[in-house]
Amino acid sequence: MKIVCAYSGGLDTSVMVPWLAEHYDAEIITYTGDLGQPGTNLEETRAKALATGASQAVVDDLRRRFVEEFCFPAMQAGALYEGTYPMHTALGRPLLAQRLCEVADAHGADAIAHGCTGKGNDQVRFEVAAQCLAPHLKVLAPLREWELTTREAEIAYATERNIPVPVSKEKPYSIDENIWGCAIECGEMEDLWAEPPADVWRMTADPAQAPKGSTEIVLSFRAGVPVALDGEELGPVAIVGALNALAGRYGVGRMDMVENRVVGLKSREVYEGPAAIVLHQAHRELERMVLDRPTAHYKAKVAQDFADLVYDGLWFGPLREALQAFVAQTQSTVTGDVRLRITAGAARITGRRSPYSLYDDGLATYSDGDTFDREAAEGFLKLYGLSYRTWGRVKRKHGAD
Ligand code: ARG
Repeated sequence: MKIVCAYSGGLDTSVMVPWLAEHYDAEIITYTGDLGQPGTNLEETRAKALATGASQAVVDDLRRRFVEEFCFPAMQAGALYEGTYPMHTALGRPLLAQRLCEVADAHGADAIAHGCTGKGNDQVRFEVAAQCLAPHLKVLAPLREWELTTREAEIAYATERNIPVPVSKEKPYSIDENIWGCAIECGEMEDLWAEPPADVWRMTADPAQAPKGSTEIVLSFRAGVPVALDGEELGPVAIVGALNALAGRYGVGRMDMVENRVVGLKSREVYEGPAAIVLHQAHRELERMVLDRPTAHYKAKVAQDFADLVYDGLWFGPLREALQAFVAQTQSTVTGDVRLRITAGAARITGRRSPYSLYDDGLATYSDGDTFDREAAEGFLKLYGLSYRTWGRVKRKHGAD
């Protein structure tokens, strides 16, 4: 048997390699995708994977694809899960699952394996993606079935086999980080009333320690895609990186929420996403100016559905494709600049401009040059309120009942 195993270099996936090899009498190929998580040195990752017993270690840089094909479309859709979470983890899984399946097919493997636990959302995302893309492949989830239920047991298992494992005196947090954000759970944060410890944050400074005063930035969008920061054209990875650094320094983009998982439980997650938050905010503001009212309102409903289906692991299904096509259709005029003032813990919109702006000075002004037809409003109200006038009349006739 040949298995392609998702490999991060952490303890779980390092132990998975020998465990899978033994239990399935299999050849193991590891797969690692770089989504911009810090400390991914691809060469080191490859060497580490081979040292755990993998026959081959495939690594690739997925940052550009991740930002362009997953993060930006979600931002264009305005998709924030339960109104808050920009979904860096949920967006990363389908891409990793896709590459895992491709590598499996390229190497003639029988199965893929992932290191997700049995009570999280990520197993859902990996496995539904694999079912969509490679229904012929078996999917193995060792963490759902193995006997190594504690960290100590995992370390002992590896040590017995002379497999080097990353033994860091890590804090008891579960962290998932990539270029679009960071999620931190476990430890003290399992008590919903406890404030996240000051040392859990990875991408953002404490707003209380942020630089004094503020800084102003201008973000430029072309057809819904952020293309420049302060007039300097930047590629997708560079612009997200620059915003993470800048907004992160001011402590922008921290979230602390209780959310509903697909598998039925509530969990508390602490998130960071400086660039994601600023980009969502700026993009939404530009849309406010260039989208007509019915499209804007309809799109807000799609945002929620899009967020739900990304969160629920349905990226490769037909509904996501259809909704994304709708969103793409709305983006042709989302071109222009948004100015924001960044201060400790907050980004505030201070200006917007676009060649496609539907804001009409003449119609909007309360000063000279007003072109709005006030008399027309009278006739409009006669008809617009007609059904309520009828209702009001009937209601009066019946008094209080
Ligand atoms: N709750 C988030 C999601 O389901 C993040 C999951 C990973 N979180 C973590 N702390 N490891 O998308």
